[in-house]
Amino acid sequence: MQRLNECSDDLVGIDALSVYVPKLCLSATGEFAASRSIDPDKLTKGIGIERMAIPDAHEDAATMAAMSIKDLMERNCLKPDHIGKIYIGTESGVDEAKAIGSYVVGMLENVYGQGSLEECSTVEFKSACIGTTYALENLCNWTALNDDSCMGIAVASDIAKYGLNTPGEYTQGAGSVSLLVKKRPRLIAIDGFAGSFSKDEDDFFRPLGSTTAVVRGKKSNQCYLMAVERAFASYQKKALRSGAVKLENGDCLTDHISHLLFHIPYPRMAEYASASIFMQEWQCLPRWKEIEAEIGEEPQLADFSDMDKYLAADAAFKRAFSNTRAFQSAFNAKVKDTTTISRQVGNIYTGSLYLGLASLAELRRLVPGDRICFSSYGSGCSAMVFSGTVQPEAENLPSGNILQLLNERKEISLIDYELLHERIRSKSVQCPSHEFALMSIDEEGYRHYDYVR
Ligand code: HMG
Repeated sequence: MQRLNECSDDLVGIDALSVYVPKLCLSATGEFAASRSIDPDKLTKGIGIERMAIPDAHEDAATMAAMSIKDLMERNCLKPDHIGKIYIGTESGVDEAKAIGSYVVGMLENVYGQGSLEECSTVEFKSACIGTTYALENLCNWTALNDDSCMGIAVASDIAKYGLNTPGEYTQGAGSVSLLVKKRPRLIAIDGFAGSFSKDEDDFFRPLGSTTAVVRGKKSNQCYLMAVERAFASYQKKALRSGAVKLENGDCLTDHISHLLFHIPYPRMAEYASASIFMQEWQCLPRWKEIEAEIGEEPQLADFSDMDKYLAADAAFKRAFSNTRAFQSAFNAKVKDTTTISRQVGNIYTGSLYLGLASLAELRRLVPGDRICFSSYGSGCSAMVFSGTVQPEAENLPSGNILQLLNERKEISLIDYELLHERIRSKSVQCPSHEFALMSIDEEGYRHYDYVR
């Protein structure tokens, strides 16, 4: 990350995290798959999704953000005057002008007392699925420049929504992640370098006034892979230049990384992305000879007169690489576990990368001293690759019981899902209880929220 200040006893990063996922879900394999005439194996194996989180009628990106922040504050005994900034990444904002954080501050003050957050600043970061990463970067810089008492919360909150009966439909989801950012963090100290990539691409957007995104699915996969590869190459240069990682003969950067986290629009994407990164790293190493012995040489564009034939050969080669013993073993050791929560939730856009971190925390896979690499991607498009080191106290942080809470959700029928999706159903499927809720939108359009006990 572009940290302004860094010395070894002045580490900044993620101190704790909290996840909120709606209490409703839709099974991908039941009625849904049958009604869309999709083989359930395509969804569980080809896409990697088992259940999608569905927001109830009283939920939106603002209520979900308030839920994950309140949980973070309670778990970490934080009072409102501890929090200097709440920066929220979202692409499902509820207003074209007013920052989503203003609604969130209002909701939190209904619980913590009026005026309790008046000295806390709040900004909305919109940059598709990478928004929260930019919020996190800003908060790291701000905490680095200030005294030890400064704490901020980087929040991701989104509803990933596509049209009914479209290929995007089975990659929907909803939820929020809150990250407490401070000096001397207990979870991850973030390195002061990052790799970035930006390009104007027409892969995905959400038109003004629409709740569903417009997407060129296959193109979006290609843009994602290209952007993450380029940002990783940029990260690699900076990591080596900084001296944080020293390579010896025959090894590469990913050998020094314990877990690779990716933006997870659907779990298979983490597999495609890690295959691209491992390929990029291994191709110039002696171990590539073993890969070639297993699957043959990589097709070269110069050997093809027809572009389509080259692209087909290249795709087949990449698929073969994904099945090699070396890739499977690296994927199982460093990537697979990061998708555990996403398989049960779906895409939560800018929070999906951090659901990967929550998965590792829940599975107790965060070992002090390990380096973790984060690859963030937002359509449109922008990518950032950064890293951090697991801190000694990470092992003692209490579990968020996220996997258990996911199992306790109410599975809704296809008809309820479709009515909620089309906003035909305005009555909640489950009455709000111990949660923030959108109570009404008045005739002028003002939104009214409360905490329902
Ligand atoms: P699709 O048409 O379902 O894809 O669209 P497919 O037909 O290629 O199938 C996917 C995989 O399922 C393939 O695996 C099939 O073989 C396999 P692969 O060949 O690649 O290994 N499959 C089966 N497997 C087992 N049993 C079967 C079976 N049938 C097929 N019977 C797509 C998939 C993701 C494109 C679509 O769902 C979509 O458009 N989703 C929305 C866009 C998206 O998520 N893009 C991801 C990259 S962009 C991004 O991440 C940014 C984003 O989060 C937004 C933001 O930044 O704000 C979206």
